[in-house]
Amino acid sequence: MDSQWRFVRHPSATAKQQLRASNKIASRIELVPPVRSYVVVVSGVCAVDLKFPRLRVARTRKMDVDDSQLQLYFDTVLELTRNAGKIVREHHNKGKKVTIKSCDVDLVTETDQQVEKLLVTSLLTKFPGHKYIGEEAVADGKPCELTDEPTWIIDPVDGTMNFVHGYPNFCISVALWIKKKPSIGIIYNPILELMFTAQTGKGAFLNGNRISTSSVKDLEKGLLAMEFGTSRDPEKMAVVMENTQILLPLLHGIRSSGSAALNMAMVAMGGADCYFEFGIHVWDIAAGVPLIQEAGGFVSDPAGGELDPLSRRVLVASNEEFAKKIIPHLKQHYPERD
Ligand code: IPD
Repeated sequence: MDSQWRFVRHPSATAKQQLRASNKIASRIELVPPVRSYVVVVSGVCAVDLKFPRLRVARTRKMDVDDSQLQLYFDTVLELTRNAGKIVREHHNKGKKVTIKSCDVDLVTETDQQVEKLLVTSLLTKFPGHKYIGEEAVADGKPCELTDEPTWIIDPVDGTMNFVHGYPNFCISVALWIKKKPSIGIIYNPILELMFTAQTGKGAFLNGNRISTSSVKDLEKGLLAMEFGTSRDPEKMAVVMENTQILLPLLHGIRSSGSAALNMAMVAMGGADCYFEFGIHVWDIAAGVPLIQEAGGFVSDPAGGELDPLSRRVLVASNEEFAKKIIPHLKQHYPERD
C-alpha cells in the first residue's frame, strides 16, 4: 500500500457496519491476498478489510466535504461547546426562570435559550450555507427539517429537568449531519467535565481517550438505560411502565437518569449496554448516533429496522446481538413525527 495511507482495522465493528457508519468515499480499493479479501482505503486515512466485493460497491459513496473542511467544523464546534459549557456552569445550582412547554414536565430555562442562541449564531456566521435544527427554535415554531444540506442539530441543555433541580446529569448536545447522515457528534457535561466527541470514520472519544461499547451480549448480564420521558400522555406512560415490568426481570438492572444524549454516551463508553426511548426528538439523539457508531455499537429503530432520526424512536446497544435479543420483548409506541 502507498505509505502515506494508514491502514486501520476497526477494533470492534464489522466491515459492513464500518462502511455504513462512514460518510467517506472509498478512494482506493486493492486486492490483497488471500483472494476475495479486499482493502478499502477511505479518504486516505482509514481502511477496512472487506470480504464481500458486492457490498463494497453498494455502500461506498462520494464524499462531498473534504477532510480538512470537516476538521474545521469539528474544531469550531468543539470550542463553541466549551464556551457554552461556561454559561451552563454559571447557572448551575442558581435560581432559574423556568417555562413550561408541551406539558408541566417539559421544561425550558433561559440558559437553554442563551446556549442555543450562542451556538446557532456563531455556527451560521462562520458557515453561512449551513442549516440548523434547534430544540428551542422548533418549540418557537421553526419547522424541523432535515435536508441534504449540512445541518447542525442542537440540544442546548439535554436533561433540562435535571438542570432545573441541580442534579448534575445534563449536557450540551451538538451534531452535524450531512446528506441526512451523521458527521460529527459532541456531548458535553460541563459539571462533571465529560466531553464525548466523535467524527465519522475517526472513532469515539471521552476527554480525548478512545472509547468503545461493551462486549455484553446476554440480556441477563446487561444494564439498560430507559427514560420516563417528558410526556403526560397516558398511552405513552402506560407503555413505559409495561416495558419496565417486562424488562426488569430479564436484565442485570435498569437506569433512568434523565438525559437521552448522556444515556447514549454511557452505551458508547461501555457503562451501559442498551438504551431505547419512544418520544425523544432528533436533537436528543443526533450527537449520540455517530458516537455509538464510532464506538462500535449498534443503532436502530426500537422495532429493529433502520433508524429514522425524525421518528421520535431510538434504540442503541453495545452490539447487534444484544439489540436482537431485547427488541422482541419491547412493547412498541409510535409518537407523532418531528
Ligand atoms: C429530554 C431528556 C429526557 C428524555 C426526553 C427528552 P430535554 O430532553 O433527554 O431524558 O426522556 O425524551 O426530551 O427536554 O431535557 O432536552
